[in-house]
Amino acid sequence: MNDVLPAQQGLWRYFEETVASVVTSYGYRQIRTPILEHTGLFLRGIGEVTDIVEKEMYSFTDALNGEQLTLRPESTAGVVRAVIEHHLLREGPQRLWYQGPMFRHERPQRGRYRQFHQVGLEALGFEGPDIDAELMLLCARLWDELGLHNLHLEINSLGQSEERITHRQALIEYLSAHESSLDDDAKRRLHSNPLRILDSKNPAMQSLIEDAPKLDRFLGDASRAHFEGLQAMLRRRGLAFTINPRLVRGLDYYNLSVFEWVSTSTDKAPLTVCGGGRYDGLIETLGGKSAPGCGFAIGVERILDLLQAVLPEQHAVCDVYVVHHAPQSHLAAIDLAEQLRDHGLDVLLHCGGGSFKSQFRRADASGAAYAVVLGEDEIAQGQATIKDLRQASASQAQVPMVEAAHYILEHGFGVKH
Ligand code: HAM
Repeated sequence: MNDVLPAQQGLWRYFEETVASVVTSYGYRQIRTPILEHTGLFLRGIGEVTDIVEKEMYSFTDALNGEQLTLRPESTAGVVRAVIEHHLLREGPQRLWYQGPMFRHERPQRGRYRQFHQVGLEALGFEGPDIDAELMLLCARLWDELGLHNLHLEINSLGQSEERITHRQALIEYLSAHESSLDDDAKRRLHSNPLRILDSKNPAMQSLIEDAPKLDRFLGDASRAHFEGLQAMLRRRGLAFTINPRLVRGLDYYNLSVFEWVSTSTDKAPLTVCGGGRYDGLIETLGGKSAPGCGFAIGVERILDLLQAVLPEQHAVCDVYVVHHAPQSHLAAIDLAEQLRDHGLDVLLHCGGGSFKSQFRRADASGAAYAVVLGEDEIAQGQATIKDLRQASASQAQVPMVEAAHYILEHGFGVKH
């Protein structure tokens, strides 16, 4: 679990503001659901034989009333619960988004934390592949706005549950015939969740996985048409993708289209930064009237790690730093700082004492474009000295105190934003 320190806030804010602007341009509205939900919601929603439910949930009994609660490991189940509880689908289909912390008790490693953040979108009540395509196009637009170019889209179709059952049978038969080549994890999953075996990263099992029966052979006409419809829309918009028949996702609620965006930068191992798909049965499973759904979630820490590499460092915390002859000048300095803020400037007022020299050192470190100086002489004359901190020549001007803000704004310097 990470502390997000002040130096990282610029990056987080830039990402959050870009997300908010892109999702709004597609008509998605924000929803905020609780971080704690009843444990049963995740057992039913995510599936009892998934990694998340089997070994990664922070679950506990509420000592005050005996309720079984869990810190949310993801947000799709909670959003669907809220949509059912508040009858949102009665108003028509919903395009929703959320952001916030999620919790999974995983083994920490690069890009894998126990508290991490997601930005997620859920589109509820839309049946066709057009909404699947919309979600993928929205992601592509977001990467573009952020200036991230090394992300690749992988898609697959998981078909419908009857199709998966037939495939599962074929898979179990195939894997049982090769049981001696399975690792312990795979043996454990052989009958509970054989599909997840295909997701194994164990090099010793790759050729076995390669030759395993593929789900696409078991898809019916409607599932095929949905998948082909999606591909046609992506091609129409020139969005490059790869069909990855081994893409199965780690949550049980998916059917038909699933997708992941994988980072492909050369200096680091590939990492999935975003994953999602359709979940047409989830609303009914969680007690609502049957309706289709599709969504995805972005791992914020993983995206910020990539973003950091392409963004110039920003560390300015203010536009103006007020240097003054403390403590005699406190009253005048407070007046001046408030007056500058009245004009929309971000101002750091030097607090406490200290020589002019040490105050100027702080002014430089703050990244401010200007220092406004109130020395003894200035105060006696009702003047302020304005120093440009960004120019090597250190140009400066003396103006009446009441005109300081106008002077700074007129000289149109590049403020920190
Ligand atoms: P997920 O694939 O479990 O899907 O998570 C989505 C993304 O969250 C991952 O691709 C990854 O970037 C990030 N993530 C997951 N676990 C961690 C972790 N321990 N540390 C850092 N980042 C992590 C879901 O959560 C689904 N609810 C997505 C969805 C929404 N499907 C439909 N609607």
